[in-house]
Amino acid sequence: MATWMRSALAAGNHTMLAETRTDHRPNLVLIGFMGTGKSTIGRLCARRLDMEFRDSDALIEQRTNLSIPQIFAEKGEPWFRRIERIIIEELASHRGLVIATGGGVPLDSDNVERLRASGLLVLLTAHPDVILERVGQVHKRPLLAQGADPKQRIRALLEEREAAYRKAAHCVVDTSHSSPEESAEKVVLLYKVTQGG
Ligand code: S3P
Repeated sequence: MATWMRSALAAGNHTMLAETRTDHRPNLVLIGFMGTGKSTIGRLCARRLDMEFRDSDALIEQRTNLSIPQIFAEKGEPWFRRIERIIIEELASHRGLVIATGGGVPLDSDNVERLRASGLLVLLTAHPDVILERVGQVHKRPLLAQGADPKQRIRALLEEREAAYRKAAHCVVDTSHSSPEESAEKVVLLYKVTQGG
């Protein structure tokens, strides 16, 4: 990664990535498409497991002082992906975190390798109709705003990403017909079982 970029990020609004207490437990990392509930379910899991919660998109926005749509419009997707990789590298160097990742994170093999070395990767999935209903205003999701038909766009991106998502994940939870609390319960159970707890 370019040194200028690392120092630009470091100079920005600096949000703590590290846990504020010592927790050596493996991270719980939620991956998957937009609208599958990663942030909402992640927060609930963190509370239930008494772990710290981090959201990679929120960290990118805080560090750059730009919203995700602004980054895509003003800097372009490759720039966003570079920042995303830096944030993921930092997050993966910590333990004891519940991490909600942006939908494109598992498409990068370095991201996947680092996150898998840091803990359990749970893929959240949802039916395209449910995703469309949940994402609501597509302008907040620049990748869905491209093209006239958001549902078609969701289907196409899901198809494109399906294999990478499955390959990256240790396990899968379908959130289509469950409340966030029910999904969080399933994810927490998976985490506990894999940790022998
Ligand atoms: C993206 C998903 C978004 C955000 C960006 C790109 C993607 O995150 O990172 O708009 O490539 O799928 P969410 O999955 O949290 O919406």
